[in-house]
Amino acid sequence: MSKQPEQAVSTGAAFATRAVHAGHAPDPQTGAHVQPIYATSTFSYGTAERGARLFAGEESGYFYSRLSNPTVRAFEEKVASLEGAADAVAFGSGMGAASAIALTFLKSGDEVAFMGPLYGGTEGLLRGILGRFGVTVHDAADLNDLKRVVNEKTRLVWLESPTNPTLRVVDLNAAADIAHAVGALVVVDNTFSTPYLTRPLELGADLVMHSATKYLSGHGDVIAGVVAANADLSAELRLHGLRHVGSVLGPFEAHLLLRGMKTLPLRMEAHCAGAHALAEVVKDHPAVQAIHYPGLPQHPGHDLAARQMNGKFGGLVSLDLGTQEAAWRFLNALKLFTQAVSLGDVESLSSHPASTTHQLLGEETLARQGVTPGLVRLSVGIEDAADLIGDVRQALEAGGRPH
Ligand SMILES: Cc1ncc(COP(=O)(O)O)c(C=O)c1O
Repeated sequence: MSKQPEQAVSTGAAFATRAVHAGHAPDPQTGAHVQPIYATSTFSYGTAERGARLFAGEESGYFYSRLSNPTVRAFEEKVASLEGAADAVAFGSGMGAASAIALTFLKSGDEVAFMGPLYGGTEGLLRGILGRFGVTVHDAADLNDLKRVVNEKTRLVWLESPTNPTLRVVDLNAAADIAHAVGALVVVDNTFSTPYLTRPLELGADLVMHSATKYLSGHGDVIAGVVAANADLSAELRLHGLRHVGSVLGPFEAHLLLRGMKTLPLRMEAHCAGAHALAEVVKDHPAVQAIHYPGLPQHPGHDLAARQMNGKFGGLVSLDLGTQEAAWRFLNALKLFTQAVSLGDVESLSSHPASTTHQLLGEETLARQGVTPGLVRLSVGIEDAADLIGDVRQALEAGGRPH
């Protein structure tokens, strides 16, 4: 894989420095200080001999943007640097990344275990599609259950922490030990934590995936995915999951991601502070039957989160308002929290998972996983925390209280 001509930042630099500089350096030809957008589908290789060498992998270089593009490559290198990975592979969406992992590493007869809930689309892929290809999927309730369901056929153990939308904190290190004991690969969807809070590869994961649509972009203007891993797994994923499947990230989106990721540490600090302040204030409101925020000491995963999330707790807060009617009244009364799926944008967003992102899982699965009809998910943006708290308070007064 082609490298940028010169790296401006060493691997030993601090996270915030790498967020700004990793993956790109001033363009050697023009001096352009921001990574240029290479809007080209193909690259001239000049001679037939060089073309053959490029295709055989005997020479590295760009030749077709489905396989690699300099703007996209800069994004991949920035993600790899922040996740502490040898390499990363970009995809056209988070689901593109997830399906590329499945198509690259699974074959008929294999088994997959996951600890639900996962993002609804990922569970849809695992439960709804893989079975058609002869892959057996197990949904483990907790670590003991995971130990029970894994076996020598388990090829992937799929984890998310905190989980979407219930914000359960999963002990990644312990789950990785269970998976590795049977020779399985560990996939961690790190969308909710971001590498600013959690670096799953340091905790034993083999593949870290993101919906880069969310915090990595941060501005709600991109659909993108990425997977970070060691060199061998990344090469396999690039060959099969990208080259032969084709969920490709475009250079314009990569440009937006590169810009967004420069402020990831600043944004994450603001998201975490805002969510924490909101959770502290609304936790005792009479309309709130349960609150899920790992930053609150009463959250069952609080101590684990404190260790696993760099002492911070993320920007998502989920509230259970008891019934779907109360949840919908609350959502309809919010003014600053736009009702929309997605999360991790600078703007605050709100959603009702049971009737939107997780609807296809069906009532029985949702009930088992705690995705109750009264659950609302708040993605706390970087607006002033007092304004956000005021908005949630007025919406609880206006709509959340059951009649
Ligand atoms: C945790 C998580 N993983 C994966 C995805 C899928 O990503 P995308 O929408 O970029 O395909 C999402 C989307 O909401 C998500 O929240």
